[in-house]
Amino acid sequence: MAHKILDLYPKLTHLSEDELDFTEFTAAAIPILPGEKIELTKSRFLTAIQNFTKLDLNIELTNWPDFTAKAGEIIEVPISAGTLTRIYLVGIGDQSEDDFRKASAALGRKVKATNTVLISALATEKAKVITHSVALVLSNYQFTFKSEQKDKKPVFIIYGDFDEEVAHADLLASAVWQARNLIHTPSNIKNPEWLAKQATAMVSAAKNSSLSINIKSGRALKEFGGLSAVGNSSPNPGPRLIEVSYAPKGSSNWPHVVLVGKGITFDTGGISLKRPYDTMVAMKSDMAGAAAVLCATVAMAKLKPKVKVTALLMAAENALSATSQRPSDVIKHFGGTTVEVLNTDAEGRLVLADGLAYADLELDPDYLVDVATLTGAATLGLGRQYAAMYTRQKTIAKKLYEVGSQVGEKVWHMPLIDDYSVALESDLADFNHLADKFGFSAGSVTAALFLEKFVGDRNWVHLDIAGTGRSETDAGENVKGGTGFGVRLLIEWLGSF
Ligand code: BES
Ligand code: MN
Ligand code: ZN
Repeated sequence: MAHKILDLYPKLTHLSEDELDFTEFTAAAIPILPGEKIELTKSRFLTAIQNFTKLDLNIELTNWPDFTAKAGEIIEVPISAGTLTRIYLVGIGDQSEDDFRKASAALGRKVKATNTVLISALATEKAKVITHSVALVLSNYQFTFKSEQKDKKPVFIIYGDFDEEVAHADLLASAVWQARNLIHTPSNIKNPEWLAKQATAMVSAAKNSSLSINIKSGRALKEFGGLSAVGNSSPNPGPRLIEVSYAPKGSSNWPHVVLVGKGITFDTGGISLKRPYDTMVAMKSDMAGAAAVLCATVAMAKLKPKVKVTALLMAAENALSATSQRPSDVIKHFGGTTVEVLNTDAEGRLVLADGLAYADLELDPDYLVDVATLTGAATLGLGRQYAAMYTRQKTIAKKLYEVGSQVGEKVWHMPLIDDYSVALESDLADFNHLADKFGFSAGSVTAALFLEKFVGDRNWVHLDIAGTGRSETDAGENVKGGTGFGVRLLIEWLGSF
C-alpha cells in the first residue's frame, strides 16, 4: 500500500535585527511578562512594529483587562498593514524553561496548518531561542493519510542574530519529527523489515561516512532467543536487529555509548492477549524507544560530538499466531542466560535482554542506555510527564535529569529495589522474566531488575517511556499519538560529551 505523505515540516529561519522589514511577514509575535502592571517591554522590535502599523500596542492591551500574561495566554490583534494581518501578544509566564515552552507551543498552534509567515521576537537569549523554535515546530506536527490533504505549513522567522541556535533547534525538531513519523505509521505498514528499510534510508540520506548500518535477520538471529521467540510470532517478515553506528574517523578511543531501543512494531500481547482489548489500539507506538535511539543516532552526523554511538533497534512484532511463543516456554538469551516466559505480553524485556547482553558481550560500551515503552506500571507511578529512569549511577542520573528538564523531556530517578529481586527466581530456568510471586507489585521496578541481569558491570541506564512516549491528547508541543520522547534528551546528552 503506497501512501502519499506531504512534507509538512515548517520552515525555520532567523533574521538579524538590521534586516527587519515588516512587508515580508503575515504575522508577528511579541512577549508579555506578568506583573502588577501588564505592559509591553520597550524594545527595538516593538518600536519598529508600532511605527509600521501606526498602532500603540499598550493602548491595545487596555482592551484586555483580564489578561494576566501567564504562559500560553495569547491576545490576537487583527490588523491590516501591508501583508501583516495579525499581531500575537504572548504571555510567557514566569520565565522558566517550561513556561517558555508552553507559550511557544501555544503560539505555534495558533498558526498550525496555515501559510502564515511569522516573525517572532519572543526569545531574546540563546537557550530560550532553542526552546522557542523547537516548540514552534513540534506543535505544528501533522501526520495524515486523508485523501484530501492541505499543503499548508507556516514559516517561522526568529528575530535576532541566532544562526547557530536556530540551526541546532532545527536539528532537534527534525529528529523528533522523524521519530514521530515512524511511531505514527500504522502497523499494517510498519513491520520489522519496514523499520530496517526506514533506518537504511535515513542513514543514506545523511550522506555521511561517520554513519553505518548493519541488519541481522533469519539465521543471524539464532543466538538472540528473546528477539526470535517474540518476533517469530509473525514470521513474515520476522524480527530484525538493526544496528546503526556513529563512528567518525579517529573515534576509536572516544567513549562509546550503546543505545538499545524496544522496537515492537505492534504488541497484541501474543497468546497472553492484551486486556482490556481497547488498550491494544495504542500499541503501534510500542517501537517508540527504537524510533528515539535511531533518530538521535542519525542526528549525530550533523552534531559531531566526540562520542561513539551505537543504536540497537530490537525490532519484532508481538503477534498472536500458531508460531507465537507460549506462556511457560523457556528461552535462551544472547550470552546463554535461560528465562522462563510466564506472560507473552511482557515481551519488551525479552527483546531488550538480548540487545543489552549483546552490547555488554560484544560492543564494550562505556555507557549502556535502553529506551522502552516497557510497563503500564511506569505510567501508574509517574503519569505522562516523567519517564521512569533506573540506574545505579548517580552522576549520570543527575545529568540526565538536568538535560531532560532543559529540553522538556523529563526523567525521574527511580530505585532498583534489590529486595524485590527474589520474585524473579524460577524453578526451571535462570530467571523468570517477571515477578510472579510475593505480590510486590512495582511492575516497572521489577522489569528494570530483570533487565539489569543482562548488563554485566556496565554503566547502565533504563528509561521506561511507556507514559511519555505517547500523548492521549493534542497538548503543548505534542499531538495525539507518538511524542518522540527521548530524542531531544539523548541528542543533548550525547552532545555534551
Ligand atoms: N507495551 C506494553 C507496555 C505499555 C502499556 C506501553 C501501555 C504503553 C502503554 C508492554 O509490552 C506490556 O504489555 N507490559 C505489561 C507487562 C506485564 C504483563 C508484566 C504491562 O505493563 O501490563
Ligand atoms: Mn506487551
Ligand atoms: Zn510491549
